[in-house]
Amino acid sequence: MTTDFDTAKTEHERLTAEINHHRALYYNEEAPELSDADYDVLEQQLRQLEAHYPQLVTTESPTETVGAPVSAKFAPVQHGIPMLSLDNAFAPEDVVDFVGRIRRFLKIDPLETIHFAAEPKIDGVSCSILYMNGELVRAATRGDGRLGEDITENVKTIRDIPHKLAGTGHPDRIEIRGEVYFPLDAFAAMNAAAADAGAKVFANPRNAASGALRQLDAQITASRPLHFFAYAWGEVSDPDFVATQSEALQKFRDWGFSVNPRSIRVFNAEGLLEVYDSLQLDRSQLGYDIDGVVYKVDRLDYQRRLGFVSRSPRWAIAHKFPAQQALTHLQAIDIQVGRIGTLTPVARLAPVTVGGVVVSNVTLHNADEIARKDIRIGDLVRVQRAGDVIPQIVGVELSERPANAVPYNFPTICPCTLKTEVVREVNAKGEEGVARRCSGEHACPHQRVEYLKHVVSRRVLDIEGLGEKQLLKFYEDGLISEPADVFKLEARDAVSLKKLKDREGMGDLSVKNLFKAIEDRRDISLERFIAALGIKHIGDTTAKLLARAYGSEPAFRAAMTAAVKDEPGARAAIIEQDQIGPSVAEALVAYFSNDHEVGIYERFLAELRVKDAEAVATGSSVSGKTVVFTGTLEKMTRDEAKTQAERLGAKVAGSVSAKTHIVVAGPGAGSKLKKAEELGVAVMTEDEWLTMIGV
Ligand code: IVH
Repeated sequence: MTTDFDTAKTEHERLTAEINHHRALYYNEEAPELSDADYDVLEQQLRQLEAHYPQLVTTESPTETVGAPVSAKFAPVQHGIPMLSLDNAFAPEDVVDFVGRIRRFLKIDPLETIHFAAEPKIDGVSCSILYMNGELVRAATRGDGRLGEDITENVKTIRDIPHKLAGTGHPDRIEIRGEVYFPLDAFAAMNAAAADAGAKVFANPRNAASGALRQLDAQITASRPLHFFAYAWGEVSDPDFVATQSEALQKFRDWGFSVNPRSIRVFNAEGLLEVYDSLQLDRSQLGYDIDGVVYKVDRLDYQRRLGFVSRSPRWAIAHKFPAQQALTHLQAIDIQVGRIGTLTPVARLAPVTVGGVVVSNVTLHNADEIARKDIRIGDLVRVQRAGDVIPQIVGVELSERPANAVPYNFPTICPCTLKTEVVREVNAKGEEGVARRCSGEHACPHQRVEYLKHVVSRRVLDIEGLGEKQLLKFYEDGLISEPADVFKLEARDAVSLKKLKDREGMGDLSVKNLFKAIEDRRDISLERFIAALGIKHIGDTTAKLLARAYGSEPAFRAAMTAAVKDEPGARAAIIEQDQIGPSVAEALVAYFSNDHEVGIYERFLAELRVKDAEAVATGSSVSGKTVVFTGTLEKMTRDEAKTQAERLGAKVAGSVSAKTHIVVAGPGAGSKLKKAEELGVAVMTEDEWLTMIGV
């Protein structure tokens, strides 16, 4: 006979397996399948079960453990003091209970106040950084709380983590703990670029931070804008270095760490709830994700008396924000065509409020994403605003699926009038990407509009009075259909000009101003002109490199024509240019092989005066040399140093290799300096470098 206990035991095993599965996805794969709120529900169910049947609790139970076992990718680090988790509060009553519990435990006189530190709960990746005699010696992830992963080199690339503690009075040995996070604007930009390139998009900034931090190559970590807030400590040689949490935060600031500016000291439950309300209100303005507020008893002697219960301290609690999720129906999936023809599916939703904002359109990124989540038109979907900015579909409520819902078929022809075939993007290595593109190039009206938007944008022509909105009207009226048309507006017949004025409601003066602004843009730098062509893979940076490499428009054009004709060595010569790879070369050849594109190019060129690129010095002492700057520069910023070196004809690289000629090392230089020494690369100080270049 099956008893209640047997059923509970089976349920306990099932929940345990499920929680461990989701922990591994979350902590080790950066690919969670559940929202945080849904995950919390699983843990709550397990806790309730264990409350009824305490005999089910073992040391392995997820209620007693944190995180996930470490991966074999990194060397293990034993945490001297475990990195624990926090108990959660969801309702105001939970917070009142928390304060009451603490007062009772400590037997605090009703007339006496007790202070708390309230801090935003940063939704990032926790990290423990060991300093010995003020020097950063080791950094580790939380792992399972006892055993973490050694990520020292990666952590050293994070700009707001000091390599050497500032100020004085630091204990000989201290582990600083805090959260590594990915700012929201950088996250959105990175994901947009990844989606464009058909690469992996991250579900949220936390996963992106975790992914960046757990790279085997620290250079990749360095290229991500990670940040860090310090809020706790682990092992410390002098446990009395401070008497309260608030003092510790001040010390961390003095030592050169960023401490969250919204951390504040309050003295009762009401005060805590006020902090919670105000942070919830400002949440979307912070620029990084927070998922609640952490309340900590301020006095450390109290903290010691309160101690721990299994995996969390009795002296702290995390007051979580309610999930920013809502259910709504997916009415349609529309396809948007981007500038280079990438087809992006967009979900049209029955409008729904998520965290105070109405959401009706959500990007579905690409075909694989739709298939992976098995999203079908007519489905009831769960919408979430990750980091309070970018709405996303977390998943489908399968139980509500209409009987007639069919899997989504990604279009095989472009929604444009040309009905061109949609092709799967292939990268330079010949691997298939996730993106699908319309093969119609600039003949596709969707691509053409996106392309024109790019041409008139700030980064290219930057014409005052010709923004996206006006451009669209000009396009619809047939006044502008390719870049050259912008410069032909003034010479248009009277009928067109009247159309322009009527439609725009523009007076004579604004028309005159617009024409003048356009005239001013006939003189254009070679790099802007190349960027204006809208060639795949060629953004501002690559355009600049090409302009530098070829110097003038005729030289650029001649090299491209030679490559198109496949003259001996012509294609190879493109790749030999500094920092130009095969995919850029291929895109250039494809562009110049296309008569339609070349026509656009020539008509555009005929309207412009393209200035030659600034000559790069060839005779300087460093021309042609590859230089790496590392450590802190004291006389100028990194950007300045880089521009100056490039002007002198040097190439500035981010990492040291056998091809590096010079490493300029400032204070705090670490692994790059070591590598330079190993490889026998010349190392000099900033002053020596300045003397060498004659500054
Ligand atoms: S204190 C003994 N303070 O939340 C617990 N944690 O659920 C020490 N977190 O693992 C943690 N912001 O990753 C603390 N201001 C803050 C925090 C914070 C975010 C994270 C941390 C921790 C998790 C606990």
